[in-house]
Amino acid sequence: MTRRVLAGRHAVVTGGSRGIGLAIANALVDSGANVTLMARDAARLDTAIASLRLRHAAADGSQAQSFAAAVVDVADESSVNAAFAATRAANGPIDILINNAGVAESAPFTKTSADQFQRLLDINLRGVWLCTQAFATELPPSLRADDAWRHVVNVASTAALKGYAYVAAYCAAKHGVLGLTRALAHEWARRRVAVNAVCPGYTDTDIVAAAVANITAKTGRDAATARAELARSNPQAQLVTPEQVANAVLWLVSPGAESINGQAISVSGGEI
Ligand SMILES: NC(=O)c1ccc[n+]([C@@H]2O[C@H](COP(=O)([O-])OP(=O)(O)OC[C@H]3O[C@@H](n4cnc5c(N)ncnc54)[C@H](OP(=O)(O)O)[C@@H]3O)[C@@H](O)[C@H]2O)c1
Repeated sequence: MTRRVLAGRHAVVTGGSRGIGLAIANALVDSGANVTLMARDAARLDTAIASLRLRHAAADGSQAQSFAAAVVDVADESSVNAAFAATRAANGPIDILINNAGVAESAPFTKTSADQFQRLLDINLRGVWLCTQAFATELPPSLRADDAWRHVVNVASTAALKGYAYVAAYCAAKHGVLGLTRALAHEWARRRVAVNAVCPGYTDTDIVAAAVANITAKTGRDAATARAELARSNPQAQLVTPEQVANAVLWLVSPGAESINGQAISVSGGEI
């Protein structure tokens, strides 16, 4: 991958304070982009921004790049609108939106309350909707042929492409994310906005750590056995790394990838 291919571009990463979102932010920084991170926890955002600055300084601090953070709850419309307005004021128009913020919770269907279902839809699906609406407010009504391409990448999941037991609400939300991705890809195809999804399998982040703790508590198996069980769904018998997901995202938003539109890129070692 050519370095600094995103110089001068402004990318927003929701859920960028840790896990897959932070790995995506690192890849964007390495490619020269100005990056804004969004999440709920301000202290974690500050830590993440400090790590981006260090990374930039260690690589090539001579090239000007800006890094900013905005506290947001993606499920809350007024919070999203305020965060995007503040972000534009600080870092300029948004060229790249990575809708990555999400939560996973598991329970048998009959033990999943309507409130839990709603919470998972609100963060994982309504959050993508609201952030993309906020991104869309500055899309010009008409475009010139030489206008730069914008990109939206939604971090969905293999749970957007197939079903898994005990995560019906999460699967429903992630399938919704993919439907939204495909619809917008058509709607914005002539507006120089490419809209795609990446679909990771089990990826080594806090979400997997929580799943391992859950399996351990419910079955009495040790953590290593629980991790191995999750990794077994991947034909390569390993957890995906956040950096592998970030590489796919970076490819999708890099110059030359504009014809890839409305796709769901599986990053799962061939699980799907
Ligand atoms: N790890 C996996 O196995 C896996 C597999 C497939 C897909 N995914 C998807 O990948 C994405 C990232 O997951 P991850 O594994 O990196 O999770 P993670 O390590 O738990 O990070 C989640 C990020 O989302 C933020 N977030 C959560 N709820 C939010 C809200 N309501 N508003 C704003 N930010 C919020 C968190 O920050 P705060 O808590 O501070 O808000 C954090 O930055 C999610 O959409 C997830 O569904 C993960």
